[in-house]
Amino acid sequence: MKAKKARAASLEERILRHEAHVVVVGLGYVGLPLAVELAQTGFPVTGYDIAAKRVANVNAGKSDILDVKDEVLRPLVEAGKLTATTDPKALAQADCASICVPTPLSKTKDPDVSFILDAVKAIKNTLHPGMLVVLESTTYPGTTEELIRPMLEETGLKVGKDFYLAFSPERVDPGNPIYHTQNTPRVVGGTTPECARIAKVFYEQTIAKVYLVSSTQAAEMVKLLENTFRSVNIGLVNEVALMCDRLGMDVWEIIDAAASKPFGFMPFYPGPGLGGHCIPIDPHYLSWKLKSLNYYARFIELAGDINSHMPEYVVDRVARALNHEKKPIAGSNILALGVAYKRDISDVRESPALDVIRLLQQREAVVEYADPYVPEIKTDNGPMKRVKVTPERLQGCDCAVILTDHVGFDYELICRHAPLVFDTRNATRNITSPKARVVKL
Ligand SMILES: NC(=O)c1ccc[n+]([C@@H]2O[C@H](COP(=O)([O-])OP(=O)(O)OC[C@H]3O[C@@H](n4cnc5c(N)ncnc54)[C@H](O)[C@@H]3O)[C@@H](O)[C@H]2O)c1
Repeated sequence: MKAKKARAASLEERILRHEAHVVVVGLGYVGLPLAVELAQTGFPVTGYDIAAKRVANVNAGKSDILDVKDEVLRPLVEAGKLTATTDPKALAQADCASICVPTPLSKTKDPDVSFILDAVKAIKNTLHPGMLVVLESTTYPGTTEELIRPMLEETGLKVGKDFYLAFSPERVDPGNPIYHTQNTPRVVGGTTPECARIAKVFYEQTIAKVYLVSSTQAAEMVKLLENTFRSVNIGLVNEVALMCDRLGMDVWEIIDAAASKPFGFMPFYPGPGLGGHCIPIDPHYLSWKLKSLNYYARFIELAGDINSHMPEYVVDRVARALNHEKKPIAGSNILALGVAYKRDISDVRESPALDVIRLLQQREAVVEYADPYVPEIKTDNGPMKRVKVTPERLQGCDCAVILTDHVGFDYELICRHAPLVFDTRNATRNITSPKARVVKL
């Protein structure tokens, strides 16, 4: 009992003095911004990642994550406050370890927790008394308690007594100019009340507000509610877009008018489908878990079904728009504008634009793409390099399809020179007298 109290006290004191050595496991979209914030708070931080190139870049002060600017990263690296390594032995120095590794789906849409398991194995090999371990990767309720805790306790060390274990979901919204790691409130759930308390103290040093929940399972579920909420609402509004098409209405007008209600309505917008590492994937973690409890998560499955069919719907609408011009889709020149999964970022993971391009190619359209953030993409026909959006290229295409509404695109130019524009994002709403025929989703 005495030893346990002393252990917690010394870790807490080290945290409060910002002397606790933090190892961030995984330096991607979530891990690198976190590592930077922690280092800025004053903690000595090591980033451990299995990707040698990413580690070398960080150690050279170069960030490949849009939200982390080199000007911010470099001074921290030069001052020795943040270093990166591919050596898992770095974990031996850790007072606190935050796990920020990917949680994708397998081909059969089941959770692939292998990255978490690998990270936990590395931590287990160096687990020592007085250490705090926090999982930040999005996952199904029960992961921390059912997978991680038993693995770490195989060392003979006991959670809440010898070491501390918690779950705290990262809520980063890449490209968001207002909310980032530091000013987005954190939810924390611990395996024991003491684990929760220590984890709360840890995050409070760096993050503006910490919200404690009763367990790691609750914290895991909070994140899945947040992302399922988005997926279901986007699914609803995508279905409203399909309905408006049949009814001959403009879905964008309907949403804008509904959004004038100051209470009880929150606007979501339709589009070519869902992308990124979160919204298309995370709800399936929840429905998978529920299936194991003989429960079918109807909203999740329905929203997933509608959202994942949007690329096909977009291609059908493009074909319809070309048909109106007496042009077949086969052989038509299509300029796809934007391939990142959302505005003003470079992330193409799960991007529906890639599906739209693939489906257009399957229908024998000749496709080129432009994107200020993405120089090259992989397609079924091999790698494709971006092209520039010029008046000549716009005039030479049969249809320009706006798939991502990057602020940097010149929509005036696009609507002046392309003969036909299919706009899946309402990006052309301010173009009052377009020369092109503009068709909206
Ligand atoms: N990207 C987002 O917007 C976002 C937002 C909130 C939460 N999340 C969640 O955060 C987690 C991480 O997502 P991300 O977007 O940062 O992923 P990412 O792919 O950008 O980065 C993950 C990093 O982990 C490294 N890695 C993989 N296995 C490792 C291991 N065993 N040991 C050390 N490093 C390892 C990879 O090399 C990579 O650099 C996921 O669970 C995701 O769902 C992501």
